[in-house]
Amino acid sequence: MNVRKKIEEPITEELQRFKDEFADSLKSSTNRLQQAVDQIIASSGKHIRPLLVLLTAKALGEVNNGTINSAVMIELLHTSSLIHDDVIDSTKQRRGQPSLNAIFDNRVSVLVGDYILASALIRSTMTNNIDIIRVVSKIGRELAEGEIKQMEIADESILDENCYMEVIRKKTAVLLSGCTEVGAISVNSSAEMAATARQFGEYIGLCFQIRDDIFDYFHESEIGKPTGNDIREGKITLPLLYALKEEQKEGGNCYFDIVCRKDFTQENVETLISFAKEKGGIEYAESIMKIYRDKAVELIQKLPASSPKDSLLLLADYTITRKK
Ligand code: IPE
Ligand code: IPE
Ligand code: MG
Ligand code: MG
Repeated sequence: MNVRKKIEEPITEELQRFKDEFADSLKSSTNRLQQAVDQIIASSGKHIRPLLVLLTAKALGEVNNGTINSAVMIELLHTSSLIHDDVIDSTKQRRGQPSLNAIFDNRVSVLVGDYILASALIRSTMTNNIDIIRVVSKIGRELAEGEIKQMEIADESILDENCYMEVIRKKTAVLLSGCTEVGAISVNSSAEMAATARQFGEYIGLCFQIRDDIFDYFHESEIGKPTGNDIREGKITLPLLYALKEEQKEGGNCYFDIVCRKDFTQENVETLISFAKEKGGIEYAESIMKIYRDKAVELIQKLPASSPKDSLLLLADYTITRKK
């Protein structure tokens, strides 16, 4: 059995309910909107976030309507953020298909993203749980802050690992920590347990974005989105950050200069990618991922043995070893 199947095994029925409700949540009477929405439903992603919601809830109690609504709400929020992100990053491919901004244009993408974000808010009210609504409202703000901070760092060529970690925490890990937190809240876990779940999700989220950033250094067909984009956009992620720091320690500054001049021609992007690899940047990023994976695993060791708990442990590994 492949690892994905194993992870999903304890929540097969719940995941199907999620998929049905997700498709239901996106019905529109406007023609162009429906076309866009059909495209989104047809090209679904990996569903990491709903998996986290459902597995956390099931590890701590019984999945209920509030849990399913939370999973739908979070996947909607994620979907809207990807649609907006592809506009921001001018990316033309998503999930192996043309992105929405490539099929339509930026105007349609911004509005469809807003429509889906508003659908997420509607879903959050369907949980009838103010604590869940509070968590989600915060996430929306942090996500936007993370994306803006990332722009600021790129514009000002700030090369600092702490700043990088703060950006990925806000733009990605906060959403994953929201998954595990609302999963716990939906089954009435104690405040202490919800906080542990939240922290677990945050560690997984940091691993998840570092892995995504590593993808950008390779030509891989499985990923379903273009690579090499981050550097071209001035986003200096962990492997290159590490390599640049090493270069400076050794007194060199040739690659550093390219970054500061923002001279991101195709040739220079390739040079920087090779440089990051030669300096061991990929291995360094992998070692940081493993630290967070271990922290995540340690946190949930204290949960009683169960198949959803085993799946959460498998998911922690999948996050750092995944090929897409
Ligand atoms: C992509 O998320 C955006 C990041 C936070 C890296 P996913 O890789 O989970 O996207 P889908 O939903 O599976 O396509
Ligand atoms: C994550 O960053 C995007 C969001 C938080 C929405 P990326 O820009 O790296 O995500 P991809 O690579 O486009 O999926
Ligand atoms: Mg992007
Ligand atoms: Mg990326």
